[in-house]
Amino acid sequence: MFQTDRISLRKMVPDDIVSYHKWRNDHQVMVSTNPALDNYSFDQTESFVEQVILNNHSTKSYMIIERKHNQPIGITSLANLDFKNRNAELIIDIGEKEFWGKGYASEALKMLLNYAFNELNLHRLYLQVFAFNEKAIRLYQRLGFQQEGVSRQALFRKGSWHDILQMGLLQSEYNHFN
Ligand SMILES: CC(C)(COP(=O)(O)OP(=O)(O)OC[C@H]1O[C@@H](n2cnc3c(N)ncnc32)[C@H](O)[C@@H]1OP(=O)(O)O)[C@@H](O)C(=O)NCCC(=O)NCCS
Repeated sequence: MFQTDRISLRKMVPDDIVSYHKWRNDHQVMVSTNPALDNYSFDQTESFVEQVILNNHSTKSYMIIERKHNQPIGITSLANLDFKNRNAELIIDIGEKEFWGKGYASEALKMLLNYAFNELNLHRLYLQVFAFNEKAIRLYQRLGFQQEGVSRQALFRKGSWHDILQMGLLQSEYNHFN
């Protein structure tokens, strides 16, 4: 369930903070995903990961591992898990840029969606994506996500305002789609 020929998903552990820290300080990665661009010290990343990822009961975060070299290439999460309303927020970042455009995000998300809908029995996944992140929007659309709304001019990046799109996928649509 958490493995394909090329990748596996495994729970994040404290040793992964080193990889996460590298990606968090890589502006080419963060410019399309992080609303608050900054440089972070290792201590800042360590406390962020401990609070927001490792010790957060409403988040399930998985490192995406390229199996051939046992290399962490990114992270994907179900955040804000709400088991009453059976909703969660989907997040993915491929932090190793040389792995972009090779189908890794799509492969990782197919596994996570299958787990979310067919094991956790979630009813709805939602996400937000910067309107200029066309690659990510295409990826989400191919997986069945629909645009649900627009937060107009919610992001100030490189000196101008950008919309943030809200997208969602229902369990019934996922089963139909796959
Ligand atoms: C956006 C992001 C997650 C996409 O990840 P990715 O692994 O490059 O996505 P995929 O490879 O699955 O899909 C992208 C492209 O590769 C193509 N592709 C899919 N499988 C492929 C394969 N086996 N071989 C080659 N190309 C493939 C897809 O057709 C797609 O092309 P298109 O976008 O031109 O239609 C990644 O670029 C990233 O993490 N960026 C920085 C952070 C970010 O923006 N995160 C998302 C925030 S909402």
